[in-house]
Amino acid sequence: TRPLKVALLGCGVVGSEVARIMTTHADDLAARIGAPVELAGVAVRRPSKVREGIDPSLVTTDATALVKRGDIDVVVEVIGGIEPARSLITAAFEHGASVVSANKALLAQDGAALHAAAEEHDTDLYYEAAVAGAIPLIRPLRESLAGDKVNRVLGIVNGTTNFILDKMDSTGAGYQEALDEATALGYAEADPTADVEGFDAAAKAAILAGIAFHTRVRLDDVYREGMTEVTAADFASAKEMGCTIKLLAICERAEDGQSVTARVHPAMIPLTHPLASVRGAYNAVFVESDASGQLMFYGPGAGGAPTASAVLGDLVAVCRNRLSGSTGPGESAYAALPVSPMGDV
Ligand code: NDP
Ligand code: HSE
Repeated sequence: TRPLKVALLGCGVVGSEVARIMTTHADDLAARIGAPVELAGVAVRRPSKVREGIDPSLVTTDATALVKRGDIDVVVEVIGGIEPARSLITAAFEHGASVVSANKALLAQDGAALHAAAEEHDTDLYYEAAVAGAIPLIRPLRESLAGDKVNRVLGIVNGTTNFILDKMDSTGAGYQEALDEATALGYAEADPTADVEGFDAAAKAAILAGIAFHTRVRLDDVYREGMTEVTAADFASAKEMGCTIKLLAICERAEDGQSVTARVHPAMIPLTHPLASVRGAYNAVFVESDASGQLMFYGPGAGGAPTASAVLGDLVAVCRNRLSGSTGPGESAYAALPVSPMGDV
């Protein structure tokens, strides 16, 4: 069987781990897919940077030429941000490639158009890594729970802010010190404002609500409050009440079933609640549905290797789809259910 060619756009915290796992697990991946996968090119911004384990001849700064080569089966987009990621993904579809992305900011803004473009060109768009790092959430919601009726998705979906809040609570560390540590560990976004002001969690809430409730929710539809105002005094008051403070994302179907709401804000959590014991950059998400009752998803929510695990899972899925001549669930999986711009806080 011919090798499936993969173009890697971005080789930073996540991309470097994707490349490493593609190399070290090459035989296992080939066995699971039914064909070898070959790294055909790696697009970066700084070509002279030394990148361990990457063949320098594969490195390019011309991401556009790479996705337009015509022989690429799968484009893995781990650059982040809106542009040039959006144009590159669109060009990938136009040139027949499937796309795996970890880019929640882009998907929360333009998910509908990107899904439509993938469908138009009979290709795939997968993005398990965009929400909650290594934790499988997109596929369980999109596939395993597709026959059930999800009513609520609630939890911690940002590793950086959970890391900071946990440090502030458990060690008394200052906000800036904890943020610097989260950044050094590769958890924070290129601009950490996206984490601490709640934009990243709101993007994830938009993606989760859209998939859980079969509608379209965009970042602008999500009520958002960050965690920059949370102080040591707030933690002391919370402790007196037997609580801690977490940044939560809450997506709900309205009782009449006709609309959905999504919101992100800091909340007091009783110490006895499972969410209170989510430490460091871990995430935890509860999904409540008619038939299943309550499910809890828990695990590493940020970081290079955990996120690469989700990317590689998607890579296997889209490669299998290409070999079988099929595609995964697309835009038609969504029905229009109105979104209420702001939930009750
Ligand atoms: P990094 O900043 O570590 O890496 C970004 C990479 O993109 C770098 O290799 C950079 O090149 C490259 N790049 C930037 N601009 C361009 C461009 N114009 N053309 C080509 N390459 C470019 O980011 P992360 O790896 O942390 O994040 C990547 C994506 O994954 C983002 O969407 C993020 O939200 C998402 N994500 C990140 C997680 C994490 O824990 N870090 C977890 C889940 C999702 P160079 O190396 O030369 O600077
Ligand atoms: N910056 C994000 C976080 C990365 O801290 O959760 C994972 O999406």
